[in-house]
Amino acid sequence: MDYVNIPNHIGIIMDGNGRWAKKRGLSRSLGHKAGAENLKRLLKHIYRREIKIVSIYAFSVENFKRDEKEVNYLMDLFVKMFTKDSDIFVNEKIKVVFSGSRKNLREDVVSAMDSLEEKTKLYERGILNICFNYSGRREITDAVLSIARLVKEDKLDLNDITEELLDLYMYQKLPPLDFVIRTSGEIRISNFMLWESSYAEYYFPSVFFPDFDEKEFDLALNEYQKRKRRFGGV
Ligand code: FPP
Repeated sequence: MDYVNIPNHIGIIMDGNGRWAKKRGLSRSLGHKAGAENLKRLLKHIYRREIKIVSIYAFSVENFKRDEKEVNYLMDLFVKMFTKDSDIFVNEKIKVVFSGSRKNLREDVVSAMDSLEEKTKLYERGILNICFNYSGRREITDAVLSIARLVKEDKLDLNDITEELLDLYMYQKLPPLDFVIRTSGEIRISNFMLWESSYAEYYFPSVFFPDFDEKEFDLALNEYQKRKRRFGGV
C-alpha cells in the first residue's frame, strides 16, 4: 500500500508490557524488557516509513508510584538503552531529545540522557522525543510559570502572550502531534502531551506493546490514511 498521508509527528503510549508478561506467567520486568526489544525494531520501521518525529511515553511522573523494584528495573533498562544499545540511534541518524523533569532521577540515568542527547544532536534524519519523568499538565504549568516570570520582570507584555508563544515554552519546540497510538486497548491519554495533541487523530489497537510490531504499525498507518482531518473546519 502507498501511504499518501504520512503523519509528520506521531506519539506512542507504550502500554501493556505488564499484562503481556502476566499472560505468559512472566514477571512484569520481563514485559518491559520485551517492550524495549520491540521498540528498537519498531523505531527502525517507523523512520523507514518517512515519519520525521516520534514521541514516546517512556515514564510518567505518576509511574514513580509503582513498586520500587519495578521502577529500578525500568531505570536500569533505560540506562542500557541510552548507553550500550544507543547504536540504533547513531546508525539510523536519529536525534534524541527528552521531555520531562530531570529532578528526582538517579544520577546514572541523567548522565545517560545527557550523553545520548549530546551524541545524537547533529542528526537530521528524524527526531525521537522521549517523554521521561513527564506530565503533560506539568509541561503546561512550567511554560506558564516561565512566561509569568518574564511578565513580572517587565520583560514581556501581557498582550504578547499567544498560543504561538506558549508553543515556544514547551519542553521541546516540536510541531503538533498528528497521530497518537495507545496500545493495549486502554482508551485514555493519561497526561501525554496534552498541549501538542489538540488536533491529533487517535488510534487504540488492542495488542499489548511488545506485540505492536511492524505489521501492526502499518495497520495503524492504514487507519490514518482514512481519517479526514478538518481542524474544526468543514
Ligand atoms: C506501560 O506498560 C509501560 C511503561 C510504564 C514503560 C514503558 C517502557 C518501555 C516500553 C521500555 C522501553 C523504553 C525505553 C525508552 C527503553 P504497563 O507496565 O503499564 O503495562 P500494564 O498496563 O499491562 O501493567
